[in-house]
Amino acid sequence: MIKRCLFAVGRVTVLRGAAALLWLVLNSGLALAAESIPTVLITGSNASHGLAFVEEYAALGWNVIATCRTPEKADRLNALAAENDNVVVEQLDIVNDEQIAALVEKYRDTPIDVLLNNAAINTFRFGPLRFGKIDYEWFAEILEVNIIGQLKVSEAFQSNVAASEQKKIISMTSTGGSISDVEVPIAIAYRASKAGLNMAMRTYSMALKRKGIIVGIIAPGTVDTEDYMNAKDPSTVPSNYKNMIKAGRLAPRTAIDDMIALIGRLTLEDSGVYYEWTGRVLPW
Ligand SMILES: NC(=O)c1ccc[n+]([C@@H]2O[C@H](COP(=O)([O-])OP(=O)(O)OC[C@H]3O[C@@H](n4cnc5c(N)ncnc54)[C@H](OP(=O)(O)O)[C@@H]3O)[C@@H](O)[C@H]2O)c1
Repeated sequence: MIKRCLFAVGRVTVLRGAAALLWLVLNSGLALAAESIPTVLITGSNASHGLAFVEEYAALGWNVIATCRTPEKADRLNALAAENDNVVVEQLDIVNDEQIAALVEKYRDTPIDVLLNNAAINTFRFGPLRFGKIDYEWFAEILEVNIIGQLKVSEAFQSNVAASEQKKIISMTSTGGSISDVEVPIAIAYRASKAGLNMAMRTYSMALKRKGIIVGIIAPGTVDTEDYMNAKDPSTVPSNYKNMIKAGRLAPRTAIDDMIALIGRLTLEDSGVYYEWTGRVLPW
């Protein structure tokens, strides 16, 4: 009798063990599937911030779709792609509808975890934008690229983002887009473009919230993407960078990592909030 009981208990234990093993196998399989390699699509990735983002996301093991206007001239980006299997270079002018449509078609079934809208006409100068001498053609081009271009790319790829795990559309803006922070009368078109972009992305974030998509609006600041701050030979540092370093107006190269960390932390609560790269909330 005791023997039969022990046998029965043993059988239950074996069955329980097998069930537990099956559960473990199934769940570890699911966990593996759930931890698929994330994908980031970056615009304007042939230079400065964009190129640095490609480098860092590639080093983190992400799949990187690195887009730029003229891949045949993007030597540094092409070199990066040659060294990293996880980086693919694609052509994308963010205001070219045919190019946008072609890329959407090519990546139709690819979930994109982070769509990093980095490309912009980045000009913080007087030049032809001085009052009394405003070049309206150039002004319109800046607005088109910096506002409409980002929106077009975001709309075009929103289904890819919605199909991903992280579901983030990131908008690279500028502190120059803060209306309450304007102190000097320069860069009217650039400032207007970034203020307009902030409004567009904030409004867009409300529509996308229902789909679970997070819209991050981030001002990256002037980052030392070439790591001039740590240059072994100071004579290689361009004079404008020397001045920026002296004036404390340059954020270290690690700011790119800080932004990637900030993007990683964003939740739906942060959607449509205007952030500086440090994680500080900026005034509109
Ligand atoms: N650097 C700063 O201090 C700073 C400060 C605040 C905000 N930001 C913002 O941060 C982002 C990156 O700035 P950055 O310093 O890296 O600028 P950048 O060095 O001037 O590079 C701009 C990038 O955008 C690309 N681009 C311009 N028009 C485009 C178009 N129609 N289609 C596709 N790509 C286009 C450029 O490509 P091409 O080489 O083909 O022209 C380049 O790759 C921008 O959104 C900028 O406004 C920068």
